[in-house]
Amino acid sequence: MKYKSLHDIFLLKLQSLYDIESEIIKALPKMARKATNPLLSAAFQEHLEVTKDQKERLEKIFEELGEKPKKVKVEAIRALAEDAQWLTKQDMSDEALDAVLIGAAQYVEHYEMAGYGTALAWAEHMGHDKVAGMLEETLNEEEKTDKELTSLAERAMNEKALDPSMSDED
Ligand SMILES: [Fe+2]
Repeated sequence: MKYKSLHDIFLLKLQSLYDIESEIIKALPKMARKATNPLLSAAFQEHLEVTKDQKERLEKIFEELGEKPKKVKVEAIRALAEDAQWLTKQDMSDEALDAVLIGAAQYVEHYEMAGYGTALAWAEHMGHDKVAGMLEETLNEEEKTDKELTSLAERAMNEKALDPSMSDED
């Protein structure tokens, strides 16, 4: 049996998070290019930098645990990226495209929050206090990004609601 202890599956979880962050680093520049709202595009660019730091933080966590950084291929994050790509290829208005991009990014944020939440709980349970602190830092960043995406979406919808030239009725 390869995975016997909580420590074994904790390492597996970290290896999956390491793969997930790497995939997000590949996806975010594409999302920033597709976004039509400059604020959304800037938010994706900013999150790209945060994500690069999160990947490095995972490398430090592996080091802290005396392990080499390693990835396990996570199909779920690739499926989320594929789903987002399919959606953005549909024929839609600029506002709809931005809304779809925000929705896709929030899917990913919630997925990451679940993963980091689990890893944090396990780290705390095993008494890896320093590692737990680092995982919490990333979890807080993901939550912050999620909230920023929500306020961008609300703002875009409110602006559209106030601007009669952007009405759906012709
Ligand atoms: Fe992340």
